[in-house]
Amino acid sequence: MKVFYPGSFDPITNGHKDLISRLTKMFERVVVGVGYNPLKTGWLPVEVRVEVIEQVALDEGWNNVEVVPFPGLAIDAAKEQEAHLLVKGLRGAPDLPTEMTQATLNRDLSSLETLFVPSDPKWANLSSSAVRELVIFGAPIASYVPPAAERVIRSLK
Ligand code: PNS
Repeated sequence: MKVFYPGSFDPITNGHKDLISRLTKMFERVVVGVGYNPLKTGWLPVEVRVEVIEQVALDEGWNNVEVVPFPGLAIDAAKEQEAHLLVKGLRGAPDLPTEMTQATLNRDLSSLETLFVPSDPKWANLSSSAVRELVIFGAPIASYVPPAAERVIRSLK
């Protein structure tokens, strides 16, 4: 079975990394979809976000992971990839309302179900936006993102 795991990954965090690692053991193929809005620039350019995740895949020895950018709907990208399921991580109850809305809309608009996978509690309070804020104020981020992400972010300063 092939799954599509969409997110902004701006940047990838250790929480995302943990989830992808677990997915690589559960499914034959894992496609990590890096969503972006063509009209807005993210914090890291989308091609950098993709490159960083590809480097993490190499570093971790994941051989069933593919990383693709997508500019529109997650369901369209998932179908293009011929994925059987969408996967989303849940850090806790606060994530649920948004994720339920997205999962319901995505199922209404397509035949794709969403599988929710609980995040490791270790990373329950970690988010890409928190990492971005730490970077802006010059705090160290090495405990929160994979080394490949830390290197790229450090090189931007
Ligand atoms: O990491 P994030 O920011 O929580 O990821 C959100 C993302 C990219 C998964 C979500 O915004 C998304 O699926 N965007 C693509 C647009 C889309 O499919 N919208 C319909 C869902 S209601």
